[in-house]
Amino acid sequence: MEKTVQLYEGKAKKVYATADENLCIVSYKDDATAFNGQKKGTIAGKGVINNKMSNFLMQMLEKEGVPTHFVEELNDRDTVVKKVSIVPLEVIIRNISAGSFAKHYGVEEGIVFDEPTIEFSYKNDDLGDPLLNEYHALALKLATKDEIAEIKRLAFKVNEVLKAYMLTLNVRLVDFKLEFGKTADGQIVLADEISPDTCRLWDKDTNEKLDKDRFRRDMGGVEDAYNEIMRRLMGE
Ligand code: TMP
Ligand code: ASP
Repeated sequence: MEKTVQLYEGKAKKVYATADENLCIVSYKDDATAFNGQKKGTIAGKGVINNKMSNFLMQMLEKEGVPTHFVEELNDRDTVVKKVSIVPLEVIIRNISAGSFAKHYGVEEGIVFDEPTIEFSYKNDDLGDPLLNEYHALALKLATKDEIAEIKRLAFKVNEVLKAYMLTLNVRLVDFKLEFGKTADGQIVLADEISPDTCRLWDKDTNEKLDKDRFRRDMGGVEDAYNEIMRRLMGE
């Protein structure tokens, strides 16, 4: 499988067409941004780690009954995925207070919730990905009622699988962002990526941050954190 034309360049990935109209190739970059692209940088080796980690976790999720866009890893940075139309919703699940939750509601980071929370943002860079609820999403025709119900079901399932798996690596899954896509035949599948760019991952014993917050907050040790997660995940 080979890339033909570039369809899209995002902040962290490029997407290419292939000879098969139902398949694309995503190519992971080392570019990192935060705060809607206002902060820019590079995390050396990030593209390789995010590609491998995302593929590994998506294959695990498939086995647990969560359909994903994953088809085949081609090399360190490139993966064949199903062509989908992305549902323009960022789906955020939280198990522990952190980030914008702590800020919005004026609480400290690290409060463990009895039940996970879910929230949606409208995936629209020009508007700064504003928060919205299901009624807003329906009003804006971003998805149907049935699609939103399926997205919620799958997102909570992803949380259960990933949370349990991360614990075996001595990692707390604090929160994460998912994106879903619709295949040509209308099936909702997990798309985008699952990586330290899109998850908050804290060491279970020390609460050390092993994710992109180290970049967002200028904490240093960014590459080391990504490498540490990769090592725990795949022994590399
Ligand atoms: P938040 O606390 O800033 O709302 O972030 C919640 C989770 O979503 C966190 O794990 C980081 C992830 N995230 C993204 O993947 N992309 C984004 O653009 C934002 C704002 C957050
Ligand atoms: N990736 C997002 C951006 O550039 C934000 C983030 O992950 O913090 O804006």
